[in-house]
Amino acid sequence: MNRTESFAGEALQVVRGSRSGVAIAVAIHSTARGPAIGGCRIKAYPSWRDGADDALRLSAAMTTKCALAGLPYGGGKTVAALPAEGMDPARRPDLIADIAEAIAALGGRYRTGPDIGSTSEDMAEIHRLAHGWAFCRPESQGGSGTSSVATARGVLAALEAGVAPGSVDGLRIGVLGFGSVGRLICEALIERGAKVVVTDVDEGLRPVAERHGAAWTTADLVREQLDVLVPAATGGLLTVESAAACGASLIVGPANNQIAAEEVATVLRDRGVTWIPDVVASAGGIIHAVGREELGMDEAAVNAKIDAIGDTTNSVLALAREREWTTVRAARELAALA
Ligand SMILES: NC(=O)c1ccc[n+]([C@@H]2O[C@H](COP(=O)([O-])OP(=O)(O)OC[C@H]3O[C@@H](n4cnc5c(N)ncnc54)[C@H](O)[C@@H]3O)[C@@H](O)[C@H]2O)c1
Repeated sequence: MNRTESFAGEALQVVRGSRSGVAIAVAIHSTARGPAIGGCRIKAYPSWRDGADDALRLSAAMTTKCALAGLPYGGGKTVAALPAEGMDPARRPDLIADIAEAIAALGGRYRTGPDIGSTSEDMAEIHRLAHGWAFCRPESQGGSGTSSVATARGVLAALEAGVAPGSVDGLRIGVLGFGSVGRLICEALIERGAKVVVTDVDEGLRPVAERHGAAWTTADLVREQLDVLVPAATGGLLTVESAAACGASLIVGPANNQIAAEEVATVLRDRGVTWIPDVVASAGGIIHAVGREELGMDEAAVNAKIDAIGDTTNSVLALAREREWTTVRAARELAALA
């Protein structure tokens, strides 16, 4: 790490949970537009510093995502950095209580939601213990429930803008990751006439994907000739090497932090691959959560705001084309003006 690098966020709190012993980092990147929001990631990291770095990176992306979506919030993120060997499931309630305590200590400057390794049920507990500063509790407990449907809807709006409205029919689309968002995207694309090919590290999902009408592959989808690649697994998928070999014309998906480094966006631009950054495409879930739980919007108003991701996509792509910028730079510049 470059020790002279300046700190771009507002605050980074790292605590060792008094009950679980797990290092919990909460990064607040910005509260300029309103309280910082961002999910709670519970995952193994080589060290707590890697977890804190991830929290900082992801919180900055949340600031851009909220601004582009026109939400009165800034970016934040929680990372509970588990040891490599994971954690005894019996200790999980202790960890959730520690996370709630870390969030409560921030006095409302930051609110969380589910992310990799955390669930709506965890949010219910954090909501109870941390003054209500958690989104996406189960609907049966007064929350807005899972954000996957809204996230998938937003990705589809971005994808349709990227390929021009109405032209999904007949396209060859690869979906990398058949989890809760990936499978909803597959279903919708198949309904709209796309030829969908799917991969997932979990081979057990193959029969489910095939029942949906998707073709299963074990090939590296990044290198396949596709009209559209949908990254719907974990982040860091696109490296300089994989971007140089990418066979898709358009990349758009929900996975957070899809590029492993900023220069990847340049490689994609120079090769004529259109990448719709995740900060644009994956905002549907957060729009739904805050829209329903804090902003007093009904389902129709929330859906209209999610569908407007298509317009934001058009603005980002137009600005990138006009200035010959990467799409991620165009997204950040538009967010700064929002
Ligand atoms: N759920 C949401 O509302 C939401 C909102 C914004 C962003 N995201 C992001 O979208 C992505 C997908 O979210 P999700 O809720 O569907 O997650 P999920 O955990 O339900 O699904 C992820 C899937 O990816 C698979 N996978 C993991 N690594 C893989 C690899 N290397 N190759 C192929 N498959 C792999 C997993 O087996 C799993 O089936 C994540 O990056 C998440 O952070 C999700």
